[in-house]
Amino acid sequence: MKNLLITGGAGFIGVNFIRYLLEESDFEGRIINVDKLTYAGNPESLCDIEESYEDRYFFVKADISDKDSLSVVFDKFEIDAICHFAAESHVDRSIASPIEFIRTNILGTYNLLELSRERGGRIRLFHHISTDEVFGSLEDGGYFTESTHYSPNSPYSASKASSDHLVRAYNKTFDLPITISNCSNNYGPFQFPEKLIPLMILNALEDTALPIYGDGLNIRDWLYVRDHCTAIWTIMQKGRIGETYNIGGRNETQNIKVVEMICDYLDVIVGKRPNRESRRGLITFVADRPGHDRRYAIDSNKICSQLGWMPVESFETGLLKTIKWYLENDAWVNNVRSGEYLTWIKEHYG
Ligand code: NAD
Ligand code: TYD
Repeated sequence: MKNLLITGGAGFIGVNFIRYLLEESDFEGRIINVDKLTYAGNPESLCDIEESYEDRYFFVKADISDKDSLSVVFDKFEIDAICHFAAESHVDRSIASPIEFIRTNILGTYNLLELSRERGGRIRLFHHISTDEVFGSLEDGGYFTESTHYSPNSPYSASKASSDHLVRAYNKTFDLPITISNCSNNYGPFQFPEKLIPLMILNALEDTALPIYGDGLNIRDWLYVRDHCTAIWTIMQKGRIGETYNIGGRNETQNIKVVEMICDYLDVIVGKRPNRESRRGLITFVADRPGHDRRYAIDSNKICSQLGWMPVESFETGLLKTIKWYLENDAWVNNVRSGEYLTWIKEHYG
């Protein structure tokens, strides 16, 4: 892998992965980051990387649903491997307006696959990043394994499921060397504050309501983003071509518990609310999300036993690191929050 194309590298996981590859891993090649810079893409998160690695890191603003501009990137940079993160990623937005999810997640993935196929044996690996949400909801216990049937419930997860099927098919039909990973909910630095954990941290700091959908008993299996990055790199190096790997953090937690933990940590770290009460008092139960999956839980046994990967963070250590990061990076937070995010929130929540 000399010239690695990373799509969506200005988003939450992409930023963390690029930092991990350049600053911590044994990767020695060049990274070409292609990102459309939607509301979720923030190139500011990589300013220091752009300066420190000017001969190994390149940013191109492009839309993966535009095949012609992607083609130029493939040829100009002699791309020989791809790690595909770019996606519309927020379930609530997919309920409000699914079309961008179809365009980016399905058509965009198709374009990348076609461009790779057209280049014959020059592409050595196409790694596709997917989600455990493609498997649907685990209502009656058990865990998602690599052989769990797909049963997506939101336009987001349906679009990701569709892209997974295309990636698999390009391997079976055209021999494209692919790997796929399906991971659970990530959290950590640089996450856009529309997702549960950063939204709750920032609202709690601003002394505003903490909206919990439904009864708050839905369960997610939280994965610290750096653990996800080490897993992706492990698969890209050691994974078997054509295979899928599940990645989870072994941290199943109810949403209400997550938010209570954030409140309690903040009460200790920055002190209680202006009215001297605990931040738990900000918790507000609101209408449930339509089609809200009850429980996700990943069985990561395959990647652990076959490739030797292990997550290092517990939910407590990862959450504390995350809270600390948001407390220390208020300039990043303020820039992100003053953008389209606020307009969208206004439109949807008044
Ligand atoms: P994100 O929303 O933070 O970032 C997505 C990035 O893709 C942004 O930089 C955005 O500008 C870019 N992008 C969107 N549309 C594009 C287009 N048409 N062309 C080029 N770039 C485009 O998402 P994330 O949380 O970093 O997720 C990355 C990947 O991981 C996604 O494929 C997502 O489905 C998957 N995933 C995320 C989680 C999670 O908890 N965040 C969990 C499982 C899987
Ligand atoms: P989210 O971070 O949107 O991730 P996903 O929908 O991909 O799992 O939501 C995580 C969980 O938190 C999910 O069960 C929905 C819930 N949630 C709330 O209760 N309130 C909120 O304001 C948000 C954004 C999410």
